[in-house]
Amino acid sequence: MQIRVVAARPWEVSADLLVVPVVGEPAFAGELDELDRRAGGELRALHAFGELGAKTFGTALGAPGGLPVRRVLTVSGGEAGSLDRETARKLAASALRRLIGRQVRTAAVWLAPIAAGLGGDAALAAELSARGIVEGGFEPKSIYREDTDAAPPALDELILIAAPGADAAALAAAANRGQILGEGANLARRLANRAANDVTPVVLADEARAVAERYGLAIDVIDERRAAELGMGLFLAVGQGSDNPPRMIVLRSGEEGARDSLGRRLALIGKGVCFDSGGISIKPADRMEEMKMDKTGACTVIAAIVTASRLAPGLPLMAVAPAVENMPGGHATRPGDVVKALNGTFVDITNTDAEGRLILADAMTYAEHLGATHLVDVATLTGAVGRAFGNMVTGAFADSDGWWNQVATAAERAGERYWRIPLVEDYQPDMESWYADVQNSGSAEGSLVKSGMFLDKFHTVPWAHLDIGGTAYYRKAYPFASRGACGVTHATLVELALAGQG
Ligand code: BES
Ligand code: MN
Ligand code: ZN
Repeated sequence: MQIRVVAARPWEVSADLLVVPVVGEPAFAGELDELDRRAGGELRALHAFGELGAKTFGTALGAPGGLPVRRVLTVSGGEAGSLDRETARKLAASALRRLIGRQVRTAAVWLAPIAAGLGGDAALAAELSARGIVEGGFEPKSIYREDTDAAPPALDELILIAAPGADAAALAAAANRGQILGEGANLARRLANRAANDVTPVVLADEARAVAERYGLAIDVIDERRAAELGMGLFLAVGQGSDNPPRMIVLRSGEEGARDSLGRRLALIGKGVCFDSGGISIKPADRMEEMKMDKTGACTVIAAIVTASRLAPGLPLMAVAPAVENMPGGHATRPGDVVKALNGTFVDITNTDAEGRLILADAMTYAEHLGATHLVDVATLTGAVGRAFGNMVTGAFADSDGWWNQVATAAERAGERYWRIPLVEDYQPDMESWYADVQNSGSAEGSLVKSGMFLDKFHTVPWAHLDIGGTAYYRKAYPFASRGACGVTHATLVELALAGQG
């Protein structure tokens, strides 16, 4: 998809379709009034029919008489004054998804109403519109059948209509940034949605190798033999119940040992459980099929380092993705097995279904061995986080306010929502083991807090943890997204990395 920015009036641009964002009650004055007049009163007619701004992400298709477009599509951004970055992006995505099954090759988006909602920031409107259109185009059904009719039309050209006199080159750069962010999210979603019989740990490592080659990243894939030599006991304990061997995937951009402009060597760490059956502590059958998505954290950090290096070539950054399959095979870890972690901690594995924290623990230690000075991990770690916050707010932990503030700033830029959960030392006694330094799963009360407390034992540098157990994938389609993996945290990770750009 080509993106072109034109500084023009919304009635001057030829395309198959014109997207007219509506934020708040439409005031038919100024350009909107003129647009409606030239469209033969179509917008006022839609409004009179109750179709404009009825509900957030609601859309209406109209046939404008006198415009150089075949159709006009209105899309609502909710109430006036409430347009934030997330809503602006989802508005654009909703517009594209409304076109599933329609014949559209070129679409023009009128940026002014979005920019006005975002405090007059036209570059931000261009970035989020481009990102939203790209993300809206994602359809999981086309992973296995490319000719599916469930996918939105693949646009040849997206035209962003900026105000006359706008700096079109600056807006084009912003739109390009949005397009690259959207492509990165879709890379993560595509990998995450693929089935467990398709994406094993070895295949995920091969996919990482392919993107590393394509985008000039360094890659190291640690197999089970090297992992044993290194002492990654927890990582191996999770993977050993499967016939599909584990792989620790390490991607790097920038010069080895270099620090970014904030003095950091940031490591993005992602849980890559290609299938989580629970192991011997086996899960119930209901919804177990969703556990192919338990590798979403790994897919997200692989995509995020690609995106960051596309936007800031040479930026010092690493991604560590432990990939395993958690299966109840004959060699599987038993509940009660005691295993030595890479950092020397003895862990009593009381529940083999609390496997994410085990592989992450060794990945965090390994990232520090590689010189990481700051850690952030992304993981579908608990079901509890989804029960607490649902599928639109990611639960987060951080060991220091300073590091959390950097993450929160990145999240704000990215337009993603998080809620910081406390680490509560008083629960420590519940995590003690009779035999080892710690057990991997305490009692059920406060299990979400305890999942963070466990990881907190495996780092010495600033660390944050994003639990996407509730937010990684949608169980139903929304106006702005298909079912399945939604790319959550990708943009936050990229913004966090780019904060250290030269
Ligand atoms: N991958 C699951 C968490 C999960 C469940 C994510 C459902 C998304 C949807 C994780 O490995 C797990 O099984 N967690 C257990 C932890 C418990 C055994 C302490 C959980 O949440 O029940
Ligand atoms: Mn599990
Ligand atoms: Zn899991």
